[in-house]
This record gives sequence, structure tokens and C-alpha cells, in this order.
Amino acid sequence: MQLIDGKAVSSQIKQEIAAEVEQIVKNGGKVPHLAAILVGHDGGSETYVANKVKSCAECGFKSSLIRFEADVTEETLLAKVRELNDDADVDGFIVQLPLPKHISEQKVIETIDYRKDVDGFHPINVGRMSIGLPCYVSATPNGILELLKRYNIETSGKHCVVLGRSNIVGKPMASLMMQKAYPGDATVTVCHSRSKNIQEECLRADIIIAALGQPEFLKAEMVKEGAVVIDVGTTRVPSTVTKSGFKLTGDVKFDEVAPKCSFITPVPGGVGPMTIVSLMRNTLLAGKKAIYK
Ligand code: GUN
Repeated sequence: MQLIDGKAVSSQIKQEIAAEVEQIVKNGGKVPHLAAILVGHDGGSETYVANKVKSCAECGFKSSLIRFEADVTEETLLAKVRELNDDADVDGFIVQLPLPKHISEQKVIETIDYRKDVDGFHPINVGRMSIGLPCYVSATPNGILELLKRYNIETSGKHCVVLGRSNIVGKPMASLMMQKAYPGDATVTVCHSRSKNIQEECLRADIIIAALGQPEFLKAEMVKEGAVVIDVGTTRVPSTVTKSGFKLTGDVKFDEVAPKCSFITPVPGGVGPMTIVSLMRNTLLAGKKAIYK
């Protein structure tokens, strides 16, 4: 069994990005600028956004954090989105999700200029991704592809089971694993809360990507010997042991599944750090106007 070290790969990529930014600046180019909008004070979102700001510094990017209280009106938020769309200094920006219930996430996402949508959530980017055109690919699926690539994991002709059908992970992940490319060329099955025989499907899988958000859902008896297991779960489970009072728990029962795997990602330190670094890669592409002019 080989552990896939997302933390090590992500810090390697951040160094690669920082070196490229240094070159860009040396050649008189512009420092990439990522802006993030954070609404309210959700603990998870606060942590994610703080990590994104920190990663920007590590990559040599400029970052701006724009905060609103949870009672901000949808119109005020949309006005800020439009302002960032028009701000020539901002190369890309994100609105951290989830948003308070009185604000339509879809409306916010569709108001973002797709050319600055480094999260890859705008329907134009989602659509372009699904037909294999250049676009911003959403961060978690892109981070998983990068891990498969850096560990030379074979995907062509393999049976891949994606657990979960969210717009941010499950759906794009399935689409990317079946694309005509490497990593890809897999035979993909998507399982979700209404699927029957999930155990049977998983037992056939060479690669399992677990993105259900159900702590320790995937057990040893659901995994065939030699499978590759990618754990996207990051549920904050209360803990009396950690200083923060919670523990990040994956969708895989790691201790019993790991011995059966050829490769497996841990939680934390697997997919999580790769998600942030994928956002950094998209920001670099945005800064270079590499995808859209
Ligand atoms: N909430 C959970 N994951 C993400 C993400 O990748 N981007 C944004 N904007 N919000 C999130």
C-alpha cells in the first residue's frame, strides 16, 4: 500500500508556481491577483478562506479578502461581484460557499464573469469542461487528477466508481474520469444516496473516489484487493482530543481499507491540500490570461 501524500505534492506545486511568478515579474509581467468573498462566520469557510489567502502568499500572488456579515442582501453581494468583474487588477475571484439561505448561490455563480471564475463553477466553465474545451476546472476534481498523474496511476480502461453526485465534486469528477485523455479513459459508474447495490459496484472498482460527505462510509468489505481509493470527505466531527474541538473525518474507514489498497489518500493531508493548490493553478492561468483573453 502506498500513501498518496497530497500535502507534499501540494507544497511542491506551490514552489513551482512561485518560481513561475518570479519569472513573470522579472519579465515585467503582472503579479496574479485572487480575490475572495466571505459571507458570515461559518467555521469551515473561515478556515478554508484563511488557507487560500495563506497559499496566495506562498505562491507570490496578491490576494484580497472581502467580508460581509451573514445578513448582507443578495443585491449588495451581487453588486460586489459585478464590481470585481470590472476590476482590471483582479484576475480571478471566488465567493466562498455555502451562502446564507436568503441568497441564491446559483444567481451569484452566474453573475461571476466566467473569465474570472477560478472556482470553475459557472455554467460556461462546467459546460466547456464536460466537452473537453479549455476552461477553469473546479478545484477538487482537478486536484485529484493531478494526484493520479503525479503518482503515475493507470486510469485507461479501469473501472472507476464515483460515490456522490454533487455539482462541485461528483459530477465533474465522473465527467473527467471518462474524458478522452490521461487521467481519464476510465469506465465510470456514479453511485449516490438512491443507488442500489453500492457494495457490489464498489467491489468491481479499480478506482473509488468517495465524495459523499458521510464519515467512514467506505468499509473494507466494499473494496477489492489492490484498488486505488481517493477520499474526498472532510466532515468536521466533534473531538475532545484536538485543540480546535473537532477532527476532520473522511468518507473512508481508513484503518481497515488501507491494507487492501494499492494507493490511498489520507484525511487530512490527501485531497484537501490539493484542492487549494488547484485554485492557485487556476489563478496563475487567470493571471497569464492563458484560457480566456
Ligand atoms: N465551499 C466548499 N468548497 C468550495 C470551493 O471549492 N469553492 C468555494 N467558493 N466554496 C467552497
